[in-house]
Amino acid sequence: MDSSSPIKPIPLPAQEEDPPNPSTALLSFNTDSGTSPSQKHFTTIIFIALLLVTCIALAASGAFAFLFFSSPSQTPITPPISESSRARDLTKLTQSVVLLISSDGFRFGYQFKTSTPNIHRLIANGTEAEMGLIPVFPTLTFPNHYSIVTGLYPAYHGIINNYFVDPRTGDFFNMGSHEPKWWLGEPLWETVVNHGLKAATYFWPGSEVRKGSWTCPDGLCKFYNGSVPFEDRVDTVLQYFDLPSSEIPVFMTLYFEDPDHQGHKVGPDDPEITEAVARIDRMIGRLIEGLEKRGVFEDVTIILVGDHGMVGTCDKKLIFLDDLAPWIEIPKDWVQSYSPLLAIRPPPGVSPSDVVAKMNEGLSSGKVENGKNLKVYLKENLPSRLHYAASDRIPPVIGLIEEAFKVEQTRSKRKECGGAHGYDNAVFSMRTIFIGHGPQFARGKKVPSFENVQIYNLVTSILNIQVGQISQVTMCFRVAKFSQLGPDINMSDVIQTQQIVVFLRLKVSCNPCRFFAHCRFST
Ligand SMILES: *[C@@H]1O[C@H](CO)[C@@H](O)[C@H](O)[C@H]1NC(C)=O
Ligand SMILES: *[C@@H]1O[C@H](CO)[C@@H](O)[C@H](O)[C@H]1NC(C)=O
Ligand SMILES: *[C@@H]1O[C@H](CO)[C@@H](O)[C@H](O)[C@H]1NC(C)=O
Ligand SMILES: [Zn+2]
Repeated sequence: MDSSSPIKPIPLPAQEEDPPNPSTALLSFNTDSGTSPSQKHFTTIIFIALLLVTCIALAASGAFAFLFFSSPSQTPITPPISESSRARDLTKLTQSVVLLISSDGFRFGYQFKTSTPNIHRLIANGTEAEMGLIPVFPTLTFPNHYSIVTGLYPAYHGIINNYFVDPRTGDFFNMGSHEPKWWLGEPLWETVVNHGLKAATYFWPGSEVRKGSWTCPDGLCKFYNGSVPFEDRVDTVLQYFDLPSSEIPVFMTLYFEDPDHQGHKVGPDDPEITEAVARIDRMIGRLIEGLEKRGVFEDVTIILVGDHGMVGTCDKKLIFLDDLAPWIEIPKDWVQSYSPLLAIRPPPGVSPSDVVAKMNEGLSSGKVENGKNLKVYLKENLPSRLHYAASDRIPPVIGLIEEAFKVEQTRSKRKECGGAHGYDNAVFSMRTIFIGHGPQFARGKKVPSFENVQIYNLVTSILNIQVGQISQVTMCFRVAKFSQLGPDINMSDVIQTQQIVVFLRLKVSCNPCRFFAHCRFST
């Protein structure tokens, strides 16, 4: 495998090679009925500033600040910072350190299943997504973990499922595939290293992939081994804080397989889950205690998240493709994934639209068991909020399955109850947790739910390593290199410059002040 020449992301269509007419983008943005006049003005200023930043590179940060803050008609944007809303000073560390922790399959609400004093300590003195963190679609482990660290939806970062086939090469991706050609976008560890800083990963999907400036260095990058006790993982991360201050990695990841592991076996409502949650809480306690012992707990930024939730699946919530035979036969080898995301790539010569039409005809006929719980789409006709079309790795025919249902090829004895995830990310049971604790997070603050693609910008903002000085303004916008993006970016969602693309109009209200205690912009 030639790791030095990863396959390029999908080429951009010609129409996007030219910089778009800025006014078009602004006009589209302005048509957003939810945007207040002052927000529109704010956006105009951001856009002008971004152009400047791009054109004159670093020098522009000053210009940006000047433009931004000297704008005469802007409503007050620099209200006095009250002492209580300022980022707290570091007491021991010499720079910000972010520890990103994932508890796999930690469904939103699990934190109330049992006493979780340590997680609640982070919540009490930190910032929490009050109704949980929204995963990306499909709500599966690899797509979501990689969205968290790249700020990109799966269609753009390339990991569109836990398993898939690249239609151009016929190569199979699985969760052990570490060739860089699969992993698009720029994960946080790479961004950090690009800025001359150190990162350490104690497991995270994609972290073993040597790509760009990230070499997965010995000692700082652990190869996945699910047998390593959680305690050892925590203790290793704690040891990084024993290094001389300048050598402490500024970004670290820590990953726990639980409670996803139990959730699949027994579903979300079982004493085994309760115990798994209690154990995760003990690990958080071990971590807090170790950080306190080193005098750095208040200095370290801890971001605790999950990748997705979990829902119970049970007998009789099944849909069989063979039942569609009177309308269309779907052979096994067309199907790349069954549940909870049905993905079908018909062979050349079979029209995907025809497959979709016939399948939906059968499913809605009332004659297919549970048929109404599956709806099939051409990927480009999926609801746009799923952002699940812009990659040729995504098969042309996608079925959305109702929560807790499963699709199988044929009737079998294999009907057992358990748990699953992967469904539409609008489904509440797929939500997970977001808790941020550290000098830049307000204490005891609740924020509305948001999608995990925002975490990339959140972390770069905390580390102050984003593009020039625009980080605070753009922190809830997704920023990505132009070249990393796929072909069908909706231009009304995008403002482009030569080097960067700023995604506006995310599906949640975008308020740059939502996370930070030291916010300078009126909200
Ligand atoms: C929250 O932080 C304050 C100030 O450091 C501390 O006194 C208090 O004990 C903390 N609360 C919890 C629940 O840890
Ligand atoms: C995985 O971790 C376990 C427990 O630390 C260890 O005994 C085992 O040798 C490791 N496996 C590999 C392949 O490193
Ligand atoms: C682009 O986004 C706008 C506004 O959200 C929407 O009306 C339009 O249908 C989208 N276009 C495509 C091609 O998805
Ligand atoms: Zn997972």
